[in-house]
Amino acid sequence: MNAERRQSSPAAERNKAPILAVLQRALPPHGEALEIASGTGQHIAFFAAAMPGWTWQPSDLGRESWESITAWSKGLANVRAPVELDVTRDDWPVDEVDAIFCANMLHIAPWSACAGLMRGAARHLRPQGQLVTYGPYVMTDVPLAPSNAAFDADLRSRNPAWGLRRLDDVVDAAAECGLVLRETVAMPANNHLLLFSRAVAPPA
Ligand SMILES: C[S@@+](CC[C@H](N)C(=O)[O-])C[C@H]1O[C@@H](n2cnc3c(N)ncnc32)[C@H](O)[C@@H]1O
Repeated sequence: MNAERRQSSPAAERNKAPILAVLQRALPPHGEALEIASGTGQHIAFFAAAMPGWTWQPSDLGRESWESITAWSKGLANVRAPVELDVTRDDWPVDEVDAIFCANMLHIAPWSACAGLMRGAARHLRPQGQLVTYGPYVMTDVPLAPSNAAFDADLRSRNPAWGLRRLDDVVDAAAECGLVLRETVAMPANNHLLLFSRAVAPPA
C-alpha cells in the first residue's frame, strides 16, 4: 500500500538481519533507542518489528527521507515520528536513551560527524547505554579489502572530506568523550559493527 513511498537500499536489505542478530544479543530486552542517519528507514522498521520491547526514534540530517521512514514503519507502534538531527550540532532534539545506532554515516560525512556522534552519545546515553556503529572501517594491520579500497576512492572522488575511517581514529574520538570500544564484530561484506559504552558509568 505504501510501497511506492518506501525508498529501498539493497545493502540495507542484505545487512539488516546480521545487524539485528548482534543487537538482539548485545542489548537488553527493553529500552529506548535512537537511530542516527536513518536513511530509508529500512533498518529501524526491521529492528522495531523484531525487538518490540524497544521504542525506536528515527532521525536524519534533513527531511527528505521522512516519507520513506514513515512508510516503512507504518503499523509499528514502537517507532516514533522521525526528527531532524545533525550529529555535528550540540542540540540534538532527543532525551536520554539506552542505545544509539548509526549505520553507514561516518564515511559519507566529514570527519566532524564522527566527533559529533561521540559527543552526542556521551550527552544522551544513559549510564549503561551503548553506542552501536556499523560500516566499513580501515583496521590497523589488516589489509583493506579491494572492494573497500575502491569504495574509499569513489567516496573521496565524490567529496574529499568523505572516506572510510580508521578504526583507531574512531576509537580515539570516542575516548575523548569518555566512551570505550567494548566489542568489534566482523560482519558480512567486510563491514564491522562496533559497540561502545561509557568508560565509567556516572553515579545513578
Ligand atoms: C549512506 S546513508 C546511510 C543510511 C542508513 N543508515 C543505511 O545504512 O542504509 C548516510 C546517511 O548519513 C546521513 N548524514 C550525513 N551527515 C549527517 C549528519 N551530520 N548528521 C546526521 N546524519 C547525517 C545522511 O543524511 C544519510 O541518511
